[in-house]
Amino acid sequence: MDFTELLNRRRSIRDFTAQPVEKATIEKIVTQAAQSASWANSQPWKAYVATGETLNRVKADHLARTARGERGQTDLAISHRTSWRPAAQANMAEWGQGIQALAGMEYLESQGKLFNAAALVYLTLPKNFSDWSLYDLGAFGQTLMLAAANAGVDSMPAYEIVKYPAAVRQLVGIPEDEAVVMGIALGYRSAARVNDFQSTRQPLDAVLTVRD
Ligand SMILES: Cc1cc2nc3c(=O)[nH]c(=O)nc-3n(C[C@H](O)[C@H](O)[C@H](O)COP(=O)(O)O)c2cc1C
Repeated sequence: MDFTELLNRRRSIRDFTAQPVEKATIEKIVTQAAQSASWANSQPWKAYVATGETLNRVKADHLARTARGERGQTDLAISHRTSWRPAAQANMAEWGQGIQALAGMEYLESQGKLFNAAALVYLTLPKNFSDWSLYDLGAFGQTLMLAAANAGVDSMPAYEIVKYPAAVRQLVGIPEDEAVVMGIALGYRSAARVNDFQSTRQPLDAVLTVRD
């Protein structure tokens, strides 16, 4: 696949079919993600993947917590929307309104079921991680999603997946001294309307400054 095609193929998929992702494919995707650059080659990341019965237990637990309105307690702090730059606030508002208008309740239902993912990848760092490791883990996550797209596998990076890290640690067997930083759902896109949603991007001049 040509790089632009690959880049465009990767987009957030919010509802997956029941088709599982082969273990060998998961291993290839994570091997490729581990090619990411990192501070002094520290490779601070770890990936835990829930499939099969573990996945079923995680999904059931998540749905029960969501149904009773349990507040998220993520390992990373969440900043209040108003503390973001105005342009970021506008981008978030546009995204939220767009997805609600297209898919409404269907989106929220699917999210509560962890997007019906075929596999859930948890990306962790040691709890005392350096800020630089957070940068590295982001690169790992993006490379993982591109590697997935290259293997014909769709992905979904989501706060929702790491909303209840204490439960995830226990159900997936993640050591207590690791922060569950981010979650990425993997699988094959369904025909659900929510998957027709296309996010937009700011114009280049809002991002790039070149000084001669
Ligand atoms: C750290 C992070 C957390 C996210 N959490 C959610 C989430 O909980 N629910 C959701 O629908 N999308 C979530 N997203 C997906 C973003 O909305 C999405 O990446 C963005 O709108 C750009 O769209 P694209 O991924 O389709 O290019 C998250 C993305 C990132 C990187």
